Amino acid sequence: MMFKVCKRREVGTFLPKYGVIFLILSVSVIIFALKNVDFQEFKVNSTVILQKVSSDPFLHHRFCTFQPLTTEDAQEQDLILDSIAWPETPALVSLERTSDPAHSYFTILPKKGGGQWHVGDQLEVMIKMYDFQGERKKSGGDFLIARLHNWSLGAGVAGHVVDHLNGCYSAVFTLLWERSAEVQVTLVHSSEAITVLQKLTSEQPDRIYFKSDFRSDAVSEHTTCNVCLRPTLQPVCNYTDLQTGDPWFCYKPEKLNCNTRITHSKGGFKQNLTAGEQKLFQGGVTMKVPLWPSGPSSVTVMPKRKEEKNSSVKIGNSGYYYQGAWRALGGTPVLQFNTSSAISNCLAGKTVHLYGDSTIRQWFEHLTAVLPDLKEYNLGSLKQVGPFMALDYANRILVTYRCHGPPIRFANVPTSKLRYIANELDRVTGGSNTIIVLGIWSHFSTFPIEVYIRRLQSIRRAVVRLLHRAPSTLVVIRTANLKALTLYETLTNSDWYSLQCDKVLRAVFKGLNVRLVDAWEMGLAHQLPHSLHPQPIIIKNMINVLLSYICPEKDELVFLS
Ligand SMILES: *[C@@H]1O[C@H](CO)[C@@H](O)[C@H](O)[C@H]1NC(C)=O
Ligand SMILES: *[C@@H]1O[C@H](CO)[C@@H](O)[C@H](O)[C@H]1NC(C)=O
Ligand SMILES: *[C@@H]1O[C@H](CO)[C@@H](O)[C@H](O)[C@H]1NC(C)=O
Ligand SMILES: *[C@@H]1O[C@H](CO)[C@@H](O)[C@H](O)[C@H]1NC(C)=O
Ligand SMILES: *[C@@H]1O[C@H](CO)[C@@H](O)[C@H](O)[C@H]1NC(C)=O
Ligand SMILES: *[C@@H]1O[C@H](CO)[C@@H](O)[C@H](O)[C@H]1NC(C)=O
Repeated sequence: MMFKVCKRREVGTFLPKYGVIFLILSVSVIIFALKNVDFQEFKVNSTVILQKVSSDPFLHHRFCTFQPLTTEDAQEQDLILDSIAWPETPALVSLERTSDPAHSYFTILPKKGGGQWHVGDQLEVMIKMYDFQGERKKSGGDFLIARLHNWSLGAGVAGHVVDHLNGCYSAVFTLLWERSAEVQVTLVHSSEAITVLQKLTSEQPDRIYFKSDFRSDAVSEHTTCNVCLRPTLQPVCNYTDLQTGDPWFCYKPEKLNCNTRITHSKGGFKQNLTAGEQKLFQGGVTMKVPLWPSGPSSVTVMPKRKEEKNSSVKIGNSGYYYQGAWRALGGTPVLQFNTSSAISNCLAGKTVHLYGDSTIRQWFEHLTAVLPDLKEYNLGSLKQVGPFMALDYANRILVTYRCHGPPIRFANVPTSKLRYIANELDRVTGGSNTIIVLGIWSHFSTFPIEVYIRRLQSIRRAVVRLLHRAPSTLVVIRTANLKALTLYETLTNSDWYSLQCDKVLRAVFKGLNVRLVDAWEMGLAHQLPHSLHPQPIIIKNMINVLLSYICPEKDELVFLS
């Protein structure tokens, strides 16, 4: 039955109720899991890698090293791997046979039962994919994103895309504002491009490589480092963290010993794509291209019907923009902290520890920019690396930032400053005046996803320990987000890799007393172009979500100064 969904009338009858949407979503997930041949291959390939054991005791034993798991964590990992399984995607035969956004289109389906659209209704869009020769695609696995927006109203919301595995997709939206709403559907990657991205991860997990400087007296050397270090005859230094178990290795320098490592840096990127494969990653042609509508691309939305005031529809969105401000759908209402005094009143007496990559460093930079009394003390830390500390002495506000441990793609991080988030959390006392903010995702894209799962599992163990000893500590997690894609950015950090990380992140912290800032939806729903480092206005909205978690009560907003 799923395979007929492309036909308009049947979609209309097949998707009449919200519950059915959830059913379809879950059925699709199950189908994905069952059909997930590629993912199985991927696992088999990483096993092959694991079996590359050398008899030379000085040799690195594996290509990618995965820390050992408890039975429980291993079971969780299997569940997570199943839940992020992508449908089987076709191999690249020729560009002509790949998904072509210019030939593909979407259609807004008529409202079931006819009549006008109202706020609270669910809008469904059918997407049909064609290749460059104009032939219908017959398999799924294209990476499509969708949003509904009207930026003259400052309004936008992310859509949910359902893959029917036959070249047809549905995008589902909740209508959340009156007047006009326009649908936008974008092909991020063709299914054939996904095949290439998966192959890269299984065959070249070291395409981003790292290096360390070693120094002792007048002697200095540098070598290549990674969690996936190819076996050679060179001996290897093992920098696996004893507390967290996070693996890290460098080739041993020729003269110096392993204890003389002084820095960690991103080394570089090795690109190894065929010319044909590269064509799959052409911005505006094969990658990140909006689809055309067949028929109108917008609908006119009437006010909510009285009798349906209670049937508040949710398809799982965390929020939406209206008048440029992010509003939560369920969960803590988002308050507007528009002035520096509103922000410092909220943060007075609080300590905020930010840990993660540059997307969380942006929050540190935002807070020090908008709070004139929050003075940054930089005792010679590199601009990119940190660690940073900022203090508002009068209001007793302390904000710190520290980058996460390897694999971090920053340059010249002193090894004395390399810390794993889990270890840092173990050094936090916690309490009702302590806020922990975590944002760790974008530096893991090139590795087998197991590396990321295990990192998050070790961070989660530390979060659980923290919440046991200090249950009133607020822990906030920033999710992944979409970014601008060039060829290089794609091979090292494609949105498709980020999507996998994002799903893993949500799964690992599900059920824990932590709050999410949904950077994925906040970027997707906004009209501004996707960016690894979202623009200031989006950061401002994220900080409003953070501050609403810290100061949820309306009366916190009474300005004292
Ligand atoms: C946004 O809504 C206004 C008011 O209904 C309408 O005039 C405009 O065309 C809409 N713009 C888009 C992009 O839908
Ligand atoms: C797994 O490895 C085999 C043999 O090296 C290769 O043919 C196949 O394409 C690989 N699978 C993936 C998903 O990369
Ligand atoms: C690296 O060190 C860790 C911690 O001491 C140890 O558990 C692991 O087996 C070592 N790995 C290799 C490949 O020697
Ligand atoms: C580059 O790609 C080719 C073909 O996919 C493969 O055979 C080769 O091993 C790759 N080289 C590296 C260094 O990964
Ligand atoms: C809406 O929900 C409220 C509280 O749940 C209830 O009191 C009210 O009767 C409901 N209204 C309608 C029209 O169903
Ligand atoms: C905060 O700023 C936004 C956008 O500038 C504005 O729409 C809103 O009314 C302001 N809210 C408050 C509480 O000042």
